[in-house]
Amino acid sequence: MNDRLYIFDTTLRDGEQSPGAAMTREEKVRIARQLEKLGVDIIEAGFAAASPGDAEAIRAVAEVVRESTVCSLARATERDIQAAGDAIAPAPRKRIHTFIATSPIHMQKKLRMQPEQVVEAAVAAVKFARKFTDDVEFSAEDAVRSDMDFLCRVFEAAIKAGARTLNVPDTVGYSIPNLWGDRIRELIERVEGSDTVIWSTHCHNDLGMAVANSLAAVQAGARQVECTINGLGERAGNASLEEVVMAVKVRPDVFGCDTRVDTRQIVPSSKLVSQITGYPVQPNKAVVGANAFAHESGIHQDGVLKHRETYEIMSAESVGWTTNKLTLGKLSGRNAFRSRLEELGIKLDSEEALNAAFARFKDLADKKREIFDEDLQALVSDEAVTPEDEHLKLVSLRVASETGEVPHARLVLSVGGVEKTSDAQGGGPVDAAFKAVETVVQSASELLLYSVNSITAGTDAQGEVTVRLSKGGRVVNGQGADTDIVVASVKAYLSALNRLQSGADRAHPQVSP
Ligand code: KIV
Ligand code: ZN
Repeated sequence: MNDRLYIFDTTLRDGEQSPGAAMTREEKVRIARQLEKLGVDIIEAGFAAASPGDAEAIRAVAEVVRESTVCSLARATERDIQAAGDAIAPAPRKRIHTFIATSPIHMQKKLRMQPEQVVEAAVAAVKFARKFTDDVEFSAEDAVRSDMDFLCRVFEAAIKAGARTLNVPDTVGYSIPNLWGDRIRELIERVEGSDTVIWSTHCHNDLGMAVANSLAAVQAGARQVECTINGLGERAGNASLEEVVMAVKVRPDVFGCDTRVDTRQIVPSSKLVSQITGYPVQPNKAVVGANAFAHESGIHQDGVLKHRETYEIMSAESVGWTTNKLTLGKLSGRNAFRSRLEELGIKLDSEEALNAAFARFKDLADKKREIFDEDLQALVSDEAVTPEDEHLKLVSLRVASETGEVPHARLVLSVGGVEKTSDAQGGGPVDAAFKAVETVVQSASELLLYSVNSITAGTDAQGEVTVRLSKGGRVVNGQGADTDIVVASVKAYLSALNRLQSGADRAHPQVSP
């Protein structure tokens, strides 16, 4: 009988710490719904003390998620834990995840606390968190660089105070698999009461070993892995959920455990997270990359045609790849549209939202003969923008670009309901259009990233554009999709500018209390 491996998804918390990946409440709810469908055990929905917006988003997730446990991160202070406890209150299954750093460098330089004070703070935090829920997780931040004897002491104290899950993070992505496995094994052997808790691991990917280290921890006895969709996360990211889940699924002989993840929901989850955060998935990414199941060499193609398993260790269908499924066309009606959205797990909040999405679908169907699931996802993503987020709105755009001539853009923008027109020239049509936007908005923001992906195949495909802007230390992403990539680019630019103007700043959880 296989052991159960708990999947703790932190896309909405550590994943959100990727530059520009901050999500709105509605976006978090959409992702949380998908994570629940995916079957993750715990959803870390955010860091409630970071800002009122974060607390509200966690509460909104706690109001809709029924099956998975909803969790908030909290530093080891009463203020943070109170905020976390309040935010997760509506969830039927709730967890508080409290943490404090235990490495000499963090205790001395960041916390400016003595080891004794750190143990006291950890104990007090766990006890206080138990007032809100029995399900309390304790993390020793920077466990990778912590002294082993001290780590054992802190974890023993946390168990006595009432922690049910003990998380061992490689906060800085420093470990390598055999050392990480040894560390976890030693903790499980040495810590008194270790058989009464679930041991967890949380690995960062600075040396590209987050998944390998997490799996080494599983082999050493950890039964919870903290991970994110597409490996999103602070700096180089966290262990990627899809890789961890498929490794234990494909190799039960090695890991002897299994998850309750519905693996067919992996690709839809990956696409949703990529679309919302604006982080594209590299084509050769394991499991969810566009090439993960593409066989290029003739010998491989021949082998797969004869017997799939000659070159495939898992099937594309088992992780949710469908061959671009033709969904709807110009003649499809409102009911067909609604029921396809339902099959995709997309719920629009009101009849007006459905009507608006349907009108956009009809527009798109005029431009594009075949509409695929991916087109619908992009279309609904656009629809999820609330009017208050849309201070800047594209009214119309005309672009002239001709060989030997300087490209020129004429743009009409609605700025808080007032229409403004501008003209600009640029190195190319996108450059001219962005300059025309800047003439009106004068945001003085810096463009960090501009990328275009085609959503489906064919020259009539929608282009999906991501724009990352930075201003005054804040970084935001914006997305736009359209069959005209210059229009998609302007939509993405405006979406990023709207976020820059409206978004609340979020505190970073790895700062001292
Ligand atoms: O990387 C880390 O140490 C964390 C903790 C808060 C678990 O994200
Ligand atoms: Zn982390």
